[in-house]
Order: sequence, then C-alpha cells, then structure tokens
Amino acid sequence: MQLSLEGRVALVTGSGQGIGAAIAAQLAHAGAHVAVCDLQPDRADGVARDLSAQGLRARAFTCDVTSPEAVASLTRTVTAAVGPIDIVVNNVGWAGDDPFVSLSDEQIRRLVDVNLMSTMFVCRDVGATMIERRAGRIINIASDAGRVGSGGQAVYAATKGAVIALTKSLAREWAKHGVTANCVSPGITDTPLWGETSERIKSLLLAAVPLKRVGQPADIAYAVTFLASEEASYITGQVLSVSGGLSMVD
Ligand SMILES: NC(=O)c1ccc[n+]([C@@H]2O[C@H](COP(=O)([O-])OP(=O)(O)OC[C@H]3O[C@@H](n4cnc5c(N)ncnc54)[C@H](O)[C@@H]3O)[C@@H](O)[C@H]2O)c1
Repeated sequence: MQLSLEGRVALVTGSGQGIGAAIAAQLAHAGAHVAVCDLQPDRADGVARDLSAQGLRARAFTCDVTSPEAVASLTRTVTAAVGPIDIVVNNVGWAGDDPFVSLSDEQIRRLVDVNLMSTMFVCRDVGATMIERRAGRIINIASDAGRVGSGGQAVYAATKGAVIALTKSLAREWAKHGVTANCVSPGITDTPLWGETSERIKSLLLAAVPLKRVGQPADIAYAVTFLASEEASYITGQVLSVSGGLSMVD
C-alpha cells in the first residue's frame, strides 16, 4: 500500500528541526504541499529549501504559535500562499527537566503556553476553516509522559495529557463536520530535545523501553503520515504511542 497525500496542503508547526522536520519531509514525500512553520526563520527556511531541492513542494513560514494573533495571521498567510489547509500537525513542544517545586511561575506558564495554548490556538483557527470545508485532519503530537506521567516533567506531562483530552473532545465535536483528530504520542526520540535531557533521566527511560532503542524522528513521521492519509479516514479520537513499548495503555 502506497499512501498518497497528493494535492493536500499540510501545516506542520515546529518543523524546523527534530520530529517536525521528519514529519514535514514524509508528508512532502507522500505528495503534500507542506508549510514548514517554525519560530526560527533560518530553521524553517533550511528544511523548506532541502525539500524543494529534492523536487518536493514546501514553503517556509515563521510564527510563534504561542501568540493567538500570530496563529491567526499564519492561518491566513498559509491559505493565501499555499491553499486551504487539509492537514495540520501540532508538533511544537518543550519539556524541561526540573523538580516541580523548583519551577517559577514564569516557567510553568511558558510550558503551558508552548505545549497547550499553541495547540488550542492552531486547532481553533485551522479547525474553523476545516469545518467550513467539511474536511480535515488534525494530528497533535502528545507524549507518553502525558499518558503515564514523568518525574521531573510534571507540567510537561500535564500539558500533554491536556492535549490528549483536547484532541479527543475535538474528535467528538467535529466528526459531524468531516474532521478527524488524533494524537501521535512519542516516547524517547532522538532529537535535540532528547540531547538536552539529563543523563539520569536518559538512562532511566532507556531501561524502560521494551524494544531497547531510542526512537528516530522518522518512526513518529510514519505514524503521522498514516493518520493524515485517506486510509485512516475511519480513525478519530485515538492516541497512537510510538515509543518502543515504553507505555502500553488500553
Ligand atoms: N524528542 C523526544 O524525545 C520527544 C518525546 C515525546 C514527545 N516529544 C514531542 O515531540 C514534539 C517535537 O519534539 P522535538 O524533540 O522534535 O523538539 P525540538 O525542540 O527538537 O524541535 C521543536 C521545534 O519547534 C520550534 N518551536 C519552539 N517553540 C516554538 C513556537 N512557540 N512557535 C513555533 N515554533 C516553535 C523550535 O524552534 C524547534 O525547531 C514536541 O511536541 C515534543 O513534546 C518529543
């Protein structure tokens, strides 16, 4: 089975590096026209340029998705430049690794803004256009931390748990409009974010992975590409862990 996203427009947030860049690449390889969005213009430009050099369709956009005004403007700009958005992947995220009681008010708010508020703003604005067009795929990148908790990452886990609840609720609310919403939930994945994780947490986590390896960004991107495809049209409100078996949740 060859999955095809020919003719689809996909917006991937935080796709200037790591998991997001792998998702942008796979969606583009499947035929989608990809809006590569990142806070860092050079990162978005670099990914879009690499994909274009391979003859794929990609365009760079700069946006801070924690700002509702910036997200509204991004939705309009992408639609005008590339076309109405068929697939949106909310991939932006930031974990941190600090004891809960040591966190400042500012750190807690920043984690909520980056992981949860950004996802809400993008889902609201892009979702409204999907409802109007009676079609759309929302794929939110959660984390197994949001399914089973993670010591040292309490706020991160809380925000990812909230992303899962948001996704399930949108799946229920928007099914009648032809819009599906699902989560892909990475475990430990080999990205710069993983590189910043402390050695203590790294070894604890790896010991708990039944498949005994760190996930690659491409592992996550395969799951996203499937959920974005026509072949996944009967799947909504689900959370797919891509984590080497780190968590096995009913
Ligand atoms: N890497 C892991 O082990 C792991 C595990 C579980 C879940 N995840 C989730 O996967 C997703 C991607 O993680 P990653 O490891 O690739 O992250 P990363 O830090 O490597 O990349 C994130 C990208 O998002 C961009 N970004 C950050 N804030 C932004 C903002 N406000 N607006 C726009 N862009 C912004 C950054 O510039 C960066 O290019 C996140 O949601 C993360 O929580 C990662």
